[in-house]
Amino acid sequence: MKKTLIVLVSLLVVTAILLISCGSSSTPETSSLAPAASFSTPELSIGRGEKIYTQYCLACHQADGSGVPQLNPPLKNTAYVLGDESKLISIVMNGFTEGVEINGETYTNPMPAVGANFKDGEIADVLTYVRNSFGNKASAISADHVKALRK
Ligand code: HEC
Repeated sequence: MKKTLIVLVSLLVVTAILLISCGSSSTPETSSLAPAASFSTPELSIGRGEKIYTQYCLACHQADGSGVPQLNPPLKNTAYVLGDESKLISIVMNGFTEGVEINGETYTNPMPAVGANFKDGEIADVLTYVRNSFGNKASAISADHVKALRK
């Protein structure tokens, strides 16, 4: 009887040791490492884009994106701002002289190639800002997309 007790106790001890050692060995060793900070989150892009907009676009399209009647079209909820990304990138990179009709108003002034000397990331940032300001809500534009359109 006493022998069985000793066997039982030692079995328990062995099981306990096994459990503890297994438990500690499965502790993830990298859990405290956060993923490397990314410099292309939409939030960061929007922040940088706002500065570019203020410097290069605001004079014509206004601080609230409402434009100037008969001169410069608004950037609020337009098919160009929310639509095809490649076309939108091209407007900033190459300028725009096609003439547009927005909310029943026609605009025929040419837009110069404001972003001709911008870096890929700067075009992406300013457009990501525009697409997420003035009541707009659209996906971020990536620097890679801009790069792909360079000739
Ligand atoms: C010198 C004035 C001027 C500046 C500076 C300017 N634009 Fe424009 N923009 C225009 C005009 C004028 C048009 C209409 C062109 C046309 O009718 O073909 C236009 C059209 C557009 C359009 C397409 C039409 C629409 O309203 O959706 C977008 C998008 C746009 N601009 C974005 C920008 C961005 C972003 C910047 C800054 C990087 C900028 N523009 C700087 C004058 C300007």
